[in-house]
Amino acid sequence: MAKKKIGVLTSGGDAPGMNAAVRAVTRSAISKGFEVVGIRRGYNGLLHGDMIPLDVQAVSDIIQRGGTMIYTARCPEFKEWENVVKAKDICIEQGMAGIVVIGGDGSFRGAADLSKAGIPCVGLPGTIDNDIQCSEYTIGYDTAMNTVVDMIDKLRDTSHSHERCAVVEVMGRNAGHIAVNTGLACGATAVLVPEVEYDIDKVIARIREVRAAGKMQFIVVVAEGIGGTDEIAKRIQAETGIESRATVLGHVQRGGAPTVRDRVVASEMGYYAVELLEKGIGNRVVGLKDGKVYDVDIQEALSMKKPFNERLYRICNEINF
Ligand code: ADP
Ligand code: F6P
Repeated sequence: MAKKKIGVLTSGGDAPGMNAAVRAVTRSAISKGFEVVGIRRGYNGLLHGDMIPLDVQAVSDIIQRGGTMIYTARCPEFKEWENVVKAKDICIEQGMAGIVVIGGDGSFRGAADLSKAGIPCVGLPGTIDNDIQCSEYTIGYDTAMNTVVDMIDKLRDTSHSHERCAVVEVMGRNAGHIAVNTGLACGATAVLVPEVEYDIDKVIARIREVRAAGKMQFIVVVAEGIGGTDEIAKRIQAETGIESRATVLGHVQRGGAPTVRDRVVASEMGYYAVELLEKGIGNRVVGLKDGKVYDVDIQEALSMKKPFNERLYRICNEINF
């Protein structure tokens, strides 16, 4: 009798550590007696039968690589129920016992639909934004933050030489987790995040105040969800006379070799997802709670709210100037 298969796909924006998760899913599924297929380009691969067999060797030499070897994409058609049913038929035809979906909230909605159609799916949180409600941590977050810190440290060098203000926009979609952590880590004079109302006049007053105390270079971190980085830089320059430059870090934040933390979390979560599928359990998201890997119903996961770390924000304002 043919072996049962487990599929793995990456969906939505890529994140460093996705490869480590694909590897962990593949290796643990093989050791439990499954065959593994990599479904390419997210749900597109499922709908169009674009899949590759993954054996032990196929996932060797990828744990240290950023990006995702099975590609990622958005697949708007998957929001239509008839396409979910089509995907279910393809899965049955292939002998698929379950699928591990690595991505964000949108990807989990697709996983919930496919689970409802009869194919057990388990979601793994993969995004640099750390904006998945049910998990304290998402694969890719640590690597992205280290990249941001590295970039801002470099901007600090040149800002120092020119006695300028660097206004830096970091990713995060609607969340300010990357901004507040990197802002604290880089000694930013101000951090602007969507979760906390800000007053640009107060930011400017603070820059003036710290300049009067002798500071000659400044960093302002702006979360993507705030935007308008160019205008903020122009306003700071106009009102303080300090030369200011805006930098939007952009997609560089999504690349690079995953950190130890991302490799370890991805490996642990990937292993856990296969344990669930082995038991025939689907419609779950794997997350991190109180530092431990756990699983939760997808609908419940999607309805949770993630707190913003306001304490970090306050510490930033108190000790960074
Ligand atoms: P993320 O998973 O990072 O939140 P998206 O929101 O772009 O990224 O979603 C990724 C993919 O998940 C979409 O292109 C689509 O294939 C699938 N998806 C998103 N929302 C839904 C939905 N409501 N129902 C079914 N599938 C969805
Ligand atoms: O979710 C990850 C992320 O990089 C967000 O921070 C950003 O808003 C978005 O994806 C960018 O998406 P794209 O790669 O489609 O430009």
